[in-house]
Amino acid sequence: MKTLGCEAIVQHVVHPGGGKGGTAVTPRSRSIVLGIALVGALIGAIAAGGCSRSEPGHVLDEAQQAGRGAQTFRHASEDYFHDMDRGVALTQEEIAGRNMWLVWSGGNDRFWDDMTNFTFGAFDLLKSISSHPSQGYSRDTRWSYLGLLNEPCFEKPTGPDPKRFNLWLDQRVKDCPADPFENEQAYPGVKTGARGTTFSSGEKLPVGSYYGYPTGIIGLRLFPNPAFDEKAAKAWDAQRYYTDPKYYNRADLVRPYRVGMACGFCHVGPSPIRPPGDPAHPQWPELSSTVGAQYMWVDVHP
Ligand code: HEC
Repeated sequence: MKTLGCEAIVQHVVHPGGGKGGTAVTPRSRSIVLGIALVGALIGAIAAGGCSRSEPGHVLDEAQQAGRGAQTFRHASEDYFHDMDRGVALTQEEIAGRNMWLVWSGGNDRFWDDMTNFTFGAFDLLKSISSHPSQGYSRDTRWSYLGLLNEPCFEKPTGPDPKRFNLWLDQRVKDCPADPFENEQAYPGVKTGARGTTFSSGEKLPVGSYYGYPTGIIGLRLFPNPAFDEKAAKAWDAQRYYTDPKYYNRADLVRPYRVGMACGFCHVGPSPIRPPGDPAHPQWPELSSTVGAQYMWVDVHP
């Protein structure tokens, strides 16, 4: 099939049938309405996406722009999720596959950050993963409010995290082993933009791992935001980010992190065979990586 470039799509929509006597089978009024709708959609699409000349299949993602080929993104072989899926015995390849399903977000943190900016902060995954008291939801209620699955080995934060630019993020339980996927040496992230900077305040924006850091929610991973430079760091105020609409609705607000979404976010669910004793705080043996996140929903919290 011929790939449709942007101009080709414009032509296709404006002159359906390539201009060769496309017969109008619909009543006139309907075609007028249809015409208006098509033109409206077209203008919308151009306004939203821009009519760039980039052809599908030739747009470079951040990793490729930074010179990172696919072979530099190794599968993770740690059997960290062993207790899930009733402890089913998996081959090494299957373990790597399940890991990918649960922690690899393929660079889509860039997309989700764009969505936050396009909506002036109305949709903000960095807030969804938070437990700041002003938000009205927290690690304790995200199951009942949003149907999101808490990742075992974390607890609700009781204050801002100075290691995470004062965001209120889930804290790792002390007696749990480190998340193997956040290991920056084993899985070096894409060094681009401000990643790897030490700011004048002494704070650091690490490069991080290409699997990101765990967030405390299954399927969501945290990545240092390459756009968070010295200027953004100086302007950053976590308290106002949570509490002051004049600050968090700003279109030019640069957040220190972007949140990536792995397949598991929508595909992991409570095990139907061994359901969690407390669904708000499940344990690994009570989770299935394939059953589907069937309780996820979007709600306006009270
Ligand atoms: C934002 C939520 C979401 C994410 C993220 C997501 N999926 Fe899905 N997926 C769904 C939903 C919802 C369905 C069911 C669609 C339907 O039945 O119409 C589905 C269905 C599927 C199915 C079909 C399952 C079947 O039984 O037929 C496959 C395969 C699948 N997804 C793979 C993936 C992979 C691979 C990824 C990651 C690259 C992924 N999904 C990420 C929501 C998601």
